[in-house]
Amino acid sequence: MMSPNEALAKAKNILDEGGVIGFPTETVYGLAARIDIPSAVEKIFTTKERPFFDPLIVHVASVEQAKKVTAYWGPASQALAEVFWPGPLTLVLPRDPSVNLMITSGLETVGIRMPNHPLALELLQQVGVPLAAPSANKFGRTSPTSASHVRVEFKNEDVFVVDGGDCQIGIESTVLLVRHRPDKVVLSILRRGHVLQSDIAKVLSEKGFEFEFVEQLDKRESPGHMKHHYMPPVPLIVCTDVQRLPEDIVKEVNQKMGELPDEIESIKIVKPKAGIHTWSILKLSEDPLLATRELYGKLREVAIQGADCILFYRESHQAGERWESLFDRLNKAASLIL
Ligand code: TXA
Ligand code: MG
Repeated sequence: MMSPNEALAKAKNILDEGGVIGFPTETVYGLAARIDIPSAVEKIFTTKERPFFDPLIVHVASVEQAKKVTAYWGPASQALAEVFWPGPLTLVLPRDPSVNLMITSGLETVGIRMPNHPLALELLQQVGVPLAAPSANKFGRTSPTSASHVRVEFKNEDVFVVDGGDCQIGIESTVLLVRHRPDKVVLSILRRGHVLQSDIAKVLSEKGFEFEFVEQLDKRESPGHMKHHYMPPVPLIVCTDVQRLPEDIVKEVNQKMGELPDEIESIKIVKPKAGIHTWSILKLSEDPLLATRELYGKLREVAIQGADCILFYRESHQAGERWESLFDRLNKAASLIL
């Protein structure tokens, strides 16, 4: 076993030489490269098999570093960073011209966050340059919440991973587009996460900002928002009727099999040729924070049990702002919602 310090030194070396590494954050593991080495950034896309239209998040060690990658930082970003950083909030702000367009997929904005994990912060400080990093999974697949998830995901690519234990949050950061207008701050949640809209609103109200939340309708401005994502290799079926028997659900799924695609948005799904006969039930904690923490790990666990599909029963008490972040992921991972 390598000590954390040895692992950080090795990771820094690989990064400095233009390689990519896996590293822990409080949300999910990331696949990182130095933002100032274009060939390294390109390696993220090839390793993940990620399309170039999906931008990467720039991870920073401090607000000082964040200011250098944005053309306009602004008072609302300052207020939000003071409260939520380090933490699971990504701020989307105007891109500084120095930021490689490969990172932003050609957009004039850049997503920035300071992760809340001691090893991530230590690595960022030692490297001294921000790290571009998406989640460390193949494109469209379930995000990794442990070092071994990353190793399994990239077993063929032989990616070095800094082991920081299990992720405490378990789903990706909240992505918030922040626009400073002369009279008010206009905000759009591009991806739900642990930091809720109500948390953000509370901070801005308390600090006396005029602000409003608007839906981001221009989808070009919120990429990575495909209908399907986080998909396990076998079909995940979400059923909202807890009374329905698995046998009955499987029967309906088999009837609908023809409608179930083999591949959704380039993500391959294993559909047994002779129909679905066996299932594994995905069960999550009653507490939404715990349920979120364990979601991806459990999805991976049930996917390798060898059943033909995964069943999840959505219960009526699983409602409210915090559960919405979880179901945003679970529904995108589903092949069918009944
Ligand atoms: O928690 C997280 O955010 C994790 C950890 C590793 O930090 N990272 C992560 O990265 O989830 P990724 O690539 O899987 O998701 C990044 C998403 C993009 O898909 C996109 O939706 C959004 O962040 N994003 C990044 N930059 C953006 C930009 N300039 N404009 C709009 N959306 C952006
Ligand atoms: Mg991802």
